[in-house]
Amino acid sequence: MCGIVGYIGKRDAFPILVEGLSALEYRGYDSAGVALVNNSGLSVFKDKGKVDHLKEITSDIENATGTKIGIAHTRWATHGAPSYANAHPHLDVNKRIALVHNGIIENYSILKEKLKKEGIEFLSETDSEVLAQLVGKYYDGDLSSAVRRALLEVEGTFGVAVIAFDNPGVIIGARRGSPLVVGVGDDEMLLASDASAIVQHTKKVIYLKDNNLIELKHGFFNTTTLDNRKINPEIHSLDWDANALAKDGFEHFMLKEIFEQPDTIRNAMRGRLLVDDGTARLDGLNLVLQELRAINRLIFVACGTSWHAALVGEYLIEELVGIPVEVEYASEFRYRNPIIDAHTLVFVISQSGETADTLAALREASRKGATVLGICNVVGSSIARETHGGVYLHAGPEIGVASTKAFTSQLTILSLLTLLLGRMRRISHSDGVTIARALEAVPKQVKKILKQNERIREIAGIYAKHNNFLYLGRSYNFPVALEGALKLKEISYVHAEGYPAAEMKHGPIALIDKDMPSVVLALKDSVYDKVLSNIQEVNARGGSVIAIANEGDREIEKYARHVIHIPKTLPLLSPLLSVIPLQLLAYHIAALRDCEIDQPRNLAKSVTVE
Ligand code: F6R
Repeated sequence: MCGIVGYIGKRDAFPILVEGLSALEYRGYDSAGVALVNNSGLSVFKDKGKVDHLKEITSDIENATGTKIGIAHTRWATHGAPSYANAHPHLDVNKRIALVHNGIIENYSILKEKLKKEGIEFLSETDSEVLAQLVGKYYDGDLSSAVRRALLEVEGTFGVAVIAFDNPGVIIGARRGSPLVVGVGDDEMLLASDASAIVQHTKKVIYLKDNNLIELKHGFFNTTTLDNRKINPEIHSLDWDANALAKDGFEHFMLKEIFEQPDTIRNAMRGRLLVDDGTARLDGLNLVLQELRAINRLIFVACGTSWHAALVGEYLIEELVGIPVEVEYASEFRYRNPIIDAHTLVFVISQSGETADTLAALREASRKGATVLGICNVVGSSIARETHGGVYLHAGPEIGVASTKAFTSQLTILSLLTLLLGRMRRISHSDGVTIARALEAVPKQVKKILKQNERIREIAGIYAKHNNFLYLGRSYNFPVALEGALKLKEISYVHAEGYPAAEMKHGPIALIDKDMPSVVLALKDSVYDKVLSNIQEVNARGGSVIAIANEGDREIEKYARHVIHIPKTLPLLSPLLSVIPLQLLAYHIAALRDCEIDQPRNLAKSVTVE
């Protein structure tokens, strides 16, 4: 959620830190700040507002230039409103150390009271300042010992970076439950909560593990556990290039990512879809065929958009593999007492791989002895590391807060999983080949839908001022209705509800009038006629309908005010296509309402707090 950057090396730290903050701004963004060590001690520049505001207030600072070490932060408020005082970095009372923190210190109020009794005055309402004061209290010239001692007293989660006023030669980083990536450059070291702040400088990275502490010095690092045992971490190579972080002429990352989907869906299938055999290979699952055959129940655990993808997975697997599937909100699963036996396989689905609830659910399932696999985008993320195996999306970095390309990549992987498990059970060779061919055709079909962007923008123009929307779909397209509604509400702040179309008459129909448009997924599948009836029910109450229908369907035009046609595919793959117009509709409504599309209010990209 919040972003951390640290730099130590031979170049000026300040511009590198601020540039790193800009790359991380999508994660959390109500305040920004930088701390540097120079000859006169610590210099701190911070305020509420975006990184651009930080750039404005620091445009003429002289004491930043020439400084080769610093730490920086963008904040997403949890404890205390966005303000100068609550912005990071935080200093201890004697201004000897500066600290930036992601995560939540759960016992902060107990620690704060204790420190206050010792005469320490607090300037902010944050839990993070408690940590800064603790480190300051223990600092006697040995920064790593002070950080270690402080961290052993805190409960909760943290990714931290700390510098000291009298030591321009070291940054200490440490993590528990909040990601930290270390960049190993030529005579320079970087630290960040996310590799997007590092990739412009080096592709060599270390993913710090929980309860690890790292000392970064000029061109050198030393990694230990919090209780001071030496570790030799693996150095990985980042497989994405810095261009992935540019908008490439698109007005927003979200639009760029929507348009990337023909490629990202193809990337998710590459080397995995075996068309001639009508199946898939997913080597990362690390399970042999006998183990896969022995599974008789699946549990999908996820949050938000990833949860919607999981729901599609439930429809797919139950119909084509014939084993029961449960789809759980990670936040609920973690506190329930789920039933898991030796034949249950748990899949956690997460774009970021860092979502706190999903991670906690993963750990709970592992504790119960389940085999837990991941479907995840971010390589080296906590979920990727802690699962027994899994499948990467290979969608490249998703910067827009509203998830788009990750959703369709998740659907692609779930379709491959269905093929793999289904071919061991009830899918015949010829049916498998039919599904595989249809899947292979999806990227081109998505491209075709994207050509309707302008027309979808026009439809958005007609409805941009409406404040309530209903999204209806059935069968495979019920989860798509949920996803379409979520996209609209998160980026345009318009109230939208997704419903199974037939449920409408059990309540939401009361809302329908001329001011409440309904977006209806009416594809030619087994429930088409029934959905047409639902559309007529909306019409009868004065509501207007925007339908997503198949090419060649003229019938629907009699009933829906607007129709967006999409190519025909197998019903089970239709969510991969039907979601595209809904992403574009949400995008254009938000743009027409002048919303901050890539950084919607109150939201952050990866939700690393509970
Ligand atoms: C919606 C959105 C969120 C995420 C959710 C889970 O557009 O982005 O609902 O899907 O926070 O995130 P991941 O998939 O990173 O676990």
